[in-house]
Amino acid sequence: MKKALGLLALCAAMNVNAQDINLPKPDLQAPSSTMMEALAQRHSTREYAETPLTNQELSNLCWAACGMSRDDNHRTAPTAMNRQEIRLFVFSTEGVYEYEAQANTLVKKADGDHRDLMASGGGNRGGFRQDFVLQAPVTLLMVIDFEKFGKHDEKAVQMGCVDAGNVSENINLYCQSVGLVTVPRATHDTAGIRALLGLTDEQLPIMNNPVGKPKE
Ligand SMILES: Cc1cc2nc3c(=O)[nH]c(=O)nc-3n(C[C@H](O)[C@H](O)[C@H](O)COP(=O)(O)O)c2cc1C
Repeated sequence: MKKALGLLALCAAMNVNAQDINLPKPDLQAPSSTMMEALAQRHSTREYAETPLTNQELSNLCWAACGMSRDDNHRTAPTAMNRQEIRLFVFSTEGVYEYEAQANTLVKKADGDHRDLMASGGGNRGGFRQDFVLQAPVTLLMVIDFEKFGKHDEKAVQMGCVDAGNVSENINLYCQSVGLVTVPRATHDTAGIRALLGLTDEQLPIMNNPVGKPKE
């Protein structure tokens, strides 16, 4: 009991939530195809095995998407003026997490399976759905945070969209190079996501990538 209380106090002091996932270090030596092979073979896949990803696979995936790379202020994906305005959320069967690149941690933002928000196009898309997304154990969602630009004008929208595309392409190429499958998507329920995650109009869910192992 004393030990458990001590651990709780330590977690509180470190601002660590017991439900957060402290990811293992990204494995930069993990076997992968060459960049030229990944480019040649990259393709969209809309069928997935249900097999969950390991924490090591999640770590490698999030790091490839937009992890801290050559120092603690630069990412694997470039952003305009290095504003790092793309927030990455992981929707899994267990909950919704935000990838904190510096801490290499998935911070829990919501309990439960909310992958349906990725399958549905939302109210303004006339009931459009892509239920194949529910097969994938995780979907990575990119959100543009305009507060990092300090403005939300046309140029900021352009830069945010390009930067989200950079993150998505990192995911596409990483998946191809290690035998995972994915598809870049612009379909999701924007209003539902904002309500669930407490996002404002200054945070725009822009693209997502369901990721899984290939279906046998
Ligand atoms: C910005 C963008 C949005 C996309 N949105 C969707 C989508 O909502 N649903 C989907 O199934 N595919 C979506 N795709 C995937 C494209 O349909 C796919 O990349 C294209 O058909 C080319 O196929 P390939 O990726 O196999 O080369 C999107 C791709 C991009 C780049």
